Amino acid sequence: MSETGQFVRNAWYVAAWSKEVGRALLPRTLLGQNLVLYRKQDGTPVALTDRCPHKLAPLSRGELIGDLVQCGYHGMQYDGAGRCVHVPGQPPIPPAARVQSYPLVEKYNLLWIWMGDVALADPARILDITHYGRPGWGLVDGQYLHIRTNYLNLTDNLVDPAHTSYVHKRTIGNAGGADVPVELEHNDTRVSAFRWVEDSEPVPIMRTFGNFTGNVDRWQYYHLLLPTNSYVDFGAISAGGPRDEAGKDSGFRSFTFSLLTPETAASTHYFWLHLRNYAIGAAEVDADIARLYQLTFEEDRDILEAIQIEQDKTGVIEFVRLAIDRAPQRARMLIQRMIDSEHPAPKVSAG
Ligand code: FES
Ligand SMILES: [Fe+2]
Repeated sequence: MSETGQFVRNAWYVAAWSKEVGRALLPRTLLGQNLVLYRKQDGTPVALTDRCPHKLAPLSRGELIGDLVQCGYHGMQYDGAGRCVHVPGQPPIPPAARVQSYPLVEKYNLLWIWMGDVALADPARILDITHYGRPGWGLVDGQYLHIRTNYLNLTDNLVDPAHTSYVHKRTIGNAGGADVPVELEHNDTRVSAFRWVEDSEPVPIMRTFGNFTGNVDRWQYYHLLLPTNSYVDFGAISAGGPRDEAGKDSGFRSFTFSLLTPETAASTHYFWLHLRNYAIGAAEVDADIARLYQLTFEEDRDILEAIQIEQDKTGVIEFVRLAIDRAPQRARMLIQRMIDSEHPAPKVSAG
């Protein structure tokens, strides 16, 4: 299978944090394709194939002249739509002198890119982060890891609460309630693994920030929004309290979003942000959260990079299947179904 054939293309993926893209040419590989990102003078973000159609020089090695990208080899210039507007030394512009441009939308401090069928690029399909920007919710964002593993090893991991007690011993490992079985729900757009630990003592962070006087019912929901965005909804309410959304919002609650974009078949961009309804405005809590989750995701990174090396050696992803693999298996099946439904692959010119 070609590398790009391994990815769902008709989806919005995070290309970058907003802050990463400015008036410099930023090379970035997404879904196996080399792109160059920049902003026009009015701030509009642009994504182009990072390859000059003349001698294939990466455009990111050139420079920005106003809103135009000038190739660093012989100076051909391209606008933000990928049209060549200037060829040094000759007036006519060859018809093939153009590069592919990709739709970008800026939302949640992120730049979202669409690399599939342009006719389907509806911004309404961008992931909804319901609590983003709401009063009473604190945000930690701008976080990133580069992970040398196939994105499906990460989607496995993000609907797999069972690894937490082992991989995350030094970080979030005991917040879980490891002995309580995980339930699974899924439909065509999401896979969710979750558990409730009922009438139990609040874990330390809840004791510190949750204002609980007695026992709590606490939850963990691991949602994978297909193909590659996920969030963990973690929190507690007073034991026996209402479990609807408003009830949960009035308890102790946080959301950790992990937004994955395949870089190549063997590497993944991992963008993450965190929302919480406690300790709002407390800079030291922001810093603690940033540190804790960065360490936590580095623990995932370390094991998933080691797993990738073994997968490359053996050519398989597992020799034994366990009951805990139900959610990851379901996710892989649904993602493969999405990929299959896109065949024949949408027409994207070589740019
Ligand atoms: S390679 Fe870009 S102008 Fe020649
Ligand atoms: Fe993990």
